[in-house]
Amino acid sequence: MQRLLRRARIPPVRTAPARTAPARTATVRTATVRTRSAAAGTAPLGLLYERHGEPAAVVQLKNLEVPKLGDCDVHVKMLAAPINPADINMIQGTYPLLSPLPAVGGNEGVGEVQEVGRRVAALKPGDWVIPADSGLGTWRTRGVFPEEMLLKVPSDIPVLCAATLSVNPCTAFRVLADFESLAPGDSVIQNAANSGVGQAVIQIARASGIKTINVVRDRPDLPKLVERLMGLGADHVVTEEMLRKPEMKYIFKSTPRPRLALNCVGGKSTTDMLRHLQPKGTMVTYGGMAKQPVMVPVVSHIPQSAFIFRDVRLRGFWMTQWRREHAQDREGVVAMMDALCQLIRGGQLTAPACTEVPLQDYRTALEASMKPFVSSKQILLL
Ligand SMILES: NC(=O)c1ccc[n+]([C@@H]2O[C@H](COP(=O)([O-])OP(=O)(O)OC[C@H]3O[C@@H](n4cnc5c(N)ncnc54)[C@H](OP(=O)(O)O)[C@@H]3O)[C@@H](O)[C@H]2O)c1
Repeated sequence: MQRLLRRARIPPVRTAPARTAPARTATVRTATVRTRSAAAGTAPLGLLYERHGEPAAVVQLKNLEVPKLGDCDVHVKMLAAPINPADINMIQGTYPLLSPLPAVGGNEGVGEVQEVGRRVAALKPGDWVIPADSGLGTWRTRGVFPEEMLLKVPSDIPVLCAATLSVNPCTAFRVLADFESLAPGDSVIQNAANSGVGQAVIQIARASGIKTINVVRDRPDLPKLVERLMGLGADHVVTEEMLRKPEMKYIFKSTPRPRLALNCVGGKSTTDMLRHLQPKGTMVTYGGMAKQPVMVPVVSHIPQSAFIFRDVRLRGFWMTQWRREHAQDREGVVAMMDALCQLIRGGQLTAPACTEVPLQDYRTALEASMKPFVSSKQILLL
């Protein structure tokens, strides 16, 4: 990891404690949303929700009005945008950040600049852009956004990589870089290893010489999934049940015990991962897919008592918060994006396994994104 960081000219960042705790529910800054009732051939389309609820019930495809291009604005034609768990939670109204209603869904995606206001200096028509922060509303065919809400990305990377770059690969990069100083040969353990973040962790770790122990849920087509993750560079893939078995010790004959555990799930899975962590190791929680609390054995009669006898560290990470804390650190953000784009160009970081869905079929995509064991990111083609 240090090698990758040096290449990216990023000093290992120590995460400073947030100055203020994020509000339980905050509102994001978004571009203005106005809808048009009449269908017009050239009107942009967007996936809009006017109230919170189950996505397939509240999200509707509507004509949108594009506001007039201001001096500091950029007119963007969106190309592709994924459906991520956070997008679903925002629509349900259960995410700590909520967009003012009505809102266009989607926080991630890539678009092509069509036109820029006369005070826009850093972007020009033809450039590719991604959201600089959460809440852009990317599930739309076109939009006018303030320049500061956009980040330029190179247009020589595959469109699906660009569309899925700003959330999961950045999260994978940060959790690998910011919590433990990992060297080639060290190992990391993670659950939900087939998630978008998990796939990026496997690939970035592999490019840095770090071994990965990957935990997934059992399923009928497990061998196929194992093969796919091994193809990405995973060193070991185990199911949640296997993680609890004494046979895990065979893994640690060839791979050192992990110094870092990455938790996307919560509940029992965290207890099981902690059992294998080195003393004074760190577990970073960045997701809560099981919707269960993190469970840590603390009492002294449990031999693996994580807190008392092994002094493990429990940390949390939120990419949105990292971006806000690094809003003035342009160099750091650019270095991270450059490092990720270099990996993409070198074929070491690919887009997550995905299903490309035309915008009109958004309901199918929303439903698929919420089903278990799909192992495929739904990406709306705009
Ligand atoms: N903190 C941050 O900054 C940050 C950034 C990015 C993502 N995230 C969070 O990370 C999580 C993953 O995001 P993603 O985009 O990578 O997701 P994704 O590609 O849609 O994958 C979802 C993953 O969650 C697993 N999963 C779903 N329900 C589960 C359950 N009940 N128990 C165990 N595993 C379950 C799925 O496994 P199966 O195949 O077994 O269903 C799959 O591996 C989400 O919670 C997201 O909000 C956080």
